[in-house]
Amino acid sequence: MSAYRGVQQALVDQPRVWLVTGAAGFIGSHLVETLLGLGQTVTGLDNFATGHRHNLAAVREQVGEAAWARFRLIEGDICDTETCRLACEGVDYVLHQAALGSVPRSLADPLTTHRANVDGFINMLLAARDADCARFVYAASSSTYGDHPALPKVEDTIGKPLSPYAVTKYVNELYADVFGASYGQQTIGLRYFNVFGPRQDPAGAYAAVIPRWFAALQGGERCQINGDGETSRDFCFIANTVQANILAATVQDQAAVNQVYNVAVGDRTSLNSLHDQIRAHLAEVTPALADLAPRYADFRNGDVRHSQADISKAQQLLGYEPEFDVPAGLALTAQWFLNQDQAQHIRRET
Ligand SMILES: NC(=O)c1ccc[n+]([C@@H]2O[C@H](COP(=O)([O-])OP(=O)(O)OC[C@H]3O[C@@H](n4cnc5c(N)ncnc54)[C@H](O)[C@@H]3O)[C@@H](O)[C@H]2O)c1
Repeated sequence: MSAYRGVQQALVDQPRVWLVTGAAGFIGSHLVETLLGLGQTVTGLDNFATGHRHNLAAVREQVGEAAWARFRLIEGDICDTETCRLACEGVDYVLHQAALGSVPRSLADPLTTHRANVDGFINMLLAARDADCARFVYAASSSTYGDHPALPKVEDTIGKPLSPYAVTKYVNELYADVFGASYGQQTIGLRYFNVFGPRQDPAGAYAAVIPRWFAALQGGERCQINGDGETSRDFCFIANTVQANILAATVQDQAAVNQVYNVAVGDRTSLNSLHDQIRAHLAEVTPALADLAPRYADFRNGDVRHSQADISKAQQLLGYEPEFDVPAGLALTAQWFLNQDQAQHIRRET
């Protein structure tokens, strides 16, 4: 049995109390869904800055009313210390996802990103410490590798941050480390690499590439590729990310605690290949899309050329085994986008 299956069974046998911040967001809502499915009691904290009520409604539909009764939502801001304290009361494991994502957003408005990602982070860390939560797992980021050219990325070798967003995520790691050393708090940082999957927001100026391209092609529009399309990323399907969180919260080996881990697949997909795969999925339903070529634009400022994770640390210390590669994850994501589209058509016609 894999470490993940073992942990899932142990949680079913002995349910715990969890706090997921950013519960109405893309990653947070998947964490809530999986935890409720495993019989856990979950508090969600979100201020709906970028999250959506429809994400939580979708979770409710997925898990059913009996499981949903084990969920409570606190609508509030992690910048408010009292809200953080209230949310942490009686919680075993914190999965801290709430933050403002997006490098371009942080360049446009560094102060707002700083407030959520640094002030909000330390509020949550303090609240979890004071409530004696057993473990504080938080969303770190591959942006912490900054300008370091080495590939694949190994946790101990980082460069200089390239954006305000990257600074905030690195500061999270520094605080978590110091809180571990100073107060004995158990923390684990998960450096996510381009997570994707159902419910990822396709709308707005700061949407990630995969949902943006699904939405563009479904609207019959050409996708824009920044650069020559040979830029590559270690895209990671959401179920792998959920697995890493649950393993990090529950790992017993003390050598695994107070560490940061890459969370990815350990592979690289170019933007050209990504575009071809997304288009091929949608062209199965709308054959005319097969001929819709992407538009190539200038390289985007601050974008690194290639990114790929070494995931051996998470494999060895957490027992992490990504279950979905990019093609498998894209197939499930495509199915979700197609279902959304169909549901919208039905709504329009009735
Ligand atoms: N998606 C990725 O590829 C990726 C990569 C690296 C790191 N991350 C990190 O993972 C986490 C989750 O990202 P996501 O993709 O699900 O983004 P998301 O925007 O869908 O989710 C973030 C959630 O946090 C909430 N939130 C923001 N500020 C808040 C505040 N001040 N108080 C309470 N709630 C607040 C938002 O409303 C939203 O629901 C973030 O910390 C992000 O920086 C994501």
